[in-house]
Amino acid sequence: MATESKTLETTSPPRTFINQLAQHAGEQVTIKGWLYNLRSSGKILFPQLRDGTGVVQCVALKNSVAPEVWNALKGLGQESALAITGTVRADERAPGGYEIDLLHAEVFDEVHDYPITPKEHGTEFLMDHRHLWLRSRRQHAILKVRHTVVKAVRDFLDADGFTLADAPIFTPAACEGTTTLFEVDYFEGEKAYLTQSGQLYNEATAAAFGKVYCFGPTFRAEKSKTRRHLTEFWMVEPEMAYATLADVMTLSERMLSAIAARVLEDRGEELKILERDPAKLEAIVPPFPRLHYDDAVKLLHEGHNKGELEARFEWGGDFGAPDETYLSANYDKPLMVHHYPAAVKAFYMARDSERPELALGVDVLAPEGYGEVIGGGERATSLEFLKEQIALHDLPQEAFEWYLDLRRYGSVPHAGFGMGIERCTAWMCGIEHVRETIPFPRMLYRLRP
Ligand code: 4AD
Ligand code: MG
Repeated sequence: MATESKTLETTSPPRTFINQLAQHAGEQVTIKGWLYNLRSSGKILFPQLRDGTGVVQCVALKNSVAPEVWNALKGLGQESALAITGTVRADERAPGGYEIDLLHAEVFDEVHDYPITPKEHGTEFLMDHRHLWLRSRRQHAILKVRHTVVKAVRDFLDADGFTLADAPIFTPAACEGTTTLFEVDYFEGEKAYLTQSGQLYNEATAAAFGKVYCFGPTFRAEKSKTRRHLTEFWMVEPEMAYATLADVMTLSERMLSAIAARVLEDRGEELKILERDPAKLEAIVPPFPRLHYDDAVKLLHEGHNKGELEARFEWGGDFGAPDETYLSANYDKPLMVHHYPAAVKAFYMARDSERPELALGVDVLAPEGYGEVIGGGERATSLEFLKEQIALHDLPQEAFEWYLDLRRYGSVPHAGFGMGIERCTAWMCGIEHVRETIPFPRMLYRLRP
């Protein structure tokens, strides 16, 4: 046995990954992957291999490989699975700076008629083949950016003294409003709802740990078919005890800047593939502009008077996508709109003491028309006020007794926000629709694959 494995080790060069070829220049390596493309020119084949870390072009000369290897390679279709062995050679013209002179290949799965070809496909077709579409260069780049956004968020909050305290997904009651709940059968006839936000639980953990965040899937049964809406999305929600609306704005600004900086630092290649202008992300540095809701409404009225906005916005309403785009068009940084009318916000929002019709809430609107990426604010602290609000919003008080306990035992000013990972990723990537920013999107008309 020992001698056998020894022979194997010495005959097959070490496996490496395409993004590590620079460390192996001049050496023999093995790469395990899938065929991305194959060109041939008489006695030379140029198989391009992808392995999840990159794409590399190999060069196979008919005279340098065994005849059975040549014949096997020659007939392979796109996405055939194969391991190749060859010598790494620096080549300035190659996309990653290296090519491989192929010596040997082992085919794991010979594929013909891979459904996604280099020709143009419609979005519906690609979404139906999402399980395969993920392999394409652009989708790969977008999901690498998503990974970096998630990592940047976690690193930022962890370094800032936040404790991860995840909230449940099965919940007994609404947080953001009853109209967008997905109901599921729990046990013995009891109904449960998929969480719309971990915030209420965050308020409990914040009183235990001071600064917390939850980070998980979130569900909204919204019948919105827009480029910003998913029915299942991932939200990160920081919450801080002894904090105010101003603290939330500062944290939002610092966190978004940290994300942009990290994407620029770690995902330069991907931004190139996506043709994303890095200057757009370089501009995301504190301070961000801040705008009172009243002033935002004034701007919208001006826009309407100038004929740039079709409908005249009424004070008291929530902004639509065109309003958000109009407001943020003047800035190359995210715009923080604060002090919304309480009537358009959730029951738990604290009120402005001078103007109680206003909530101490903020929406952070990303530039370039990406719209709201963060929503949050300061929470009401008074037990009596919250009881009233729960009744006014037609919510069952029994379900909120535990939440009201947080006001009975050590109630303090506290504040937090939620950021949707997909909206943030779409903005970082400069892409049109959130559906490409999650491996398997769930939307109004899409539950498969
Ligand atoms: O503004 P929202 O509804 O805020 C809350 O849920 C608060 N309870 C969060 C908190 O204060 N802890 O949602 C927050 C963010 C939005 O700004 C947006 O980025 C994202 O979540 N979001 C969605 N993303 C994709 N699809 C949807 N349907 C989304 N709804 C909200
Ligand atoms: Mg919101």
